Amino acid sequence: MAEACRIAAEVLEGIKRNIAPEITTKELDEFAESFIISKGARPAFKGYKGYPASLCTSINEQVVHGIPSALTRLKEGDIISFDIGVYYKGFYGDAAVTLPVGEIGVEAQKLISATEKALQLGMANAVEGNRLSDISAVIQDHVESAGFSVVRSFVGHGIGRSLHEEPQVPNFGKRGEGPRLMEGMTLAIEPMVNAGTWEVMVLEDGWTAVTKDGSLSAHFEHTVAVTKNSCIILTKL
Ligand code: MF3
Ligand code: CO
Repeated sequence: MAEACRIAAEVLEGIKRNIAPEITTKELDEFAESFIISKGARPAFKGYKGYPASLCTSINEQVVHGIPSALTRLKEGDIISFDIGVYYKGFYGDAAVTLPVGEIGVEAQKLISATEKALQLGMANAVEGNRLSDISAVIQDHVESAGFSVVRSFVGHGIGRSLHEEPQVPNFGKRGEGPRLMEGMTLAIEPMVNAGTWEVMVLEDGWTAVTKDGSLSAHFEHTVAVTKNSCIILTKL
């Protein structure tokens, strides 16, 4: 799993170095796919329930599952999340980041920072002995104290020999519920955070989830392995 996750992390690092105004999301998808194949791995999302690309590219009010397109050019001031899944030697890795395109507004920067911090706090609670919802609760608390809202209809998940395994890992809830975490469990923790309402809807393409009120949205995700006193972030370089 660490090897699959490392490839996912390298894709996101490569995208970070390459994004700039004018590049199309299709070009970034092609980079991701060819990088993954060059490592002898397979893009995990392509063909998953019919998803047509290797990368998810979700701009501004898009929450998750934006489909790369040759018609979509990044522009200064956008925020965009990149979500990538990798299958390698029998195991999956899954990771996402939200990045600024050039200079972005203050509210957008605050949203990105709060989402990334919520993921860090969630991961800090992915330790043996905690309950699953301890992760969820700390994410929700941080996001809501910052004045933002957590998406309810998409959640994190167990991951390993399948992309999505039990348990679901919601980004909301109260502490002390759900299964007890044990060393060796592997989870994809992925807060999706909206600047306005938590409600989302899916566009006619059947994939792209957007905020109902058109407000900005950010998404960060790591695949982690639970250990006794901390967790190992498998998708971090
Ligand atoms: N990272 C997301 C997830 O874990 C995206 C995968 S869905 C796909 O569910 F269809 F785009 F593959
Ligand atoms: Co995921």
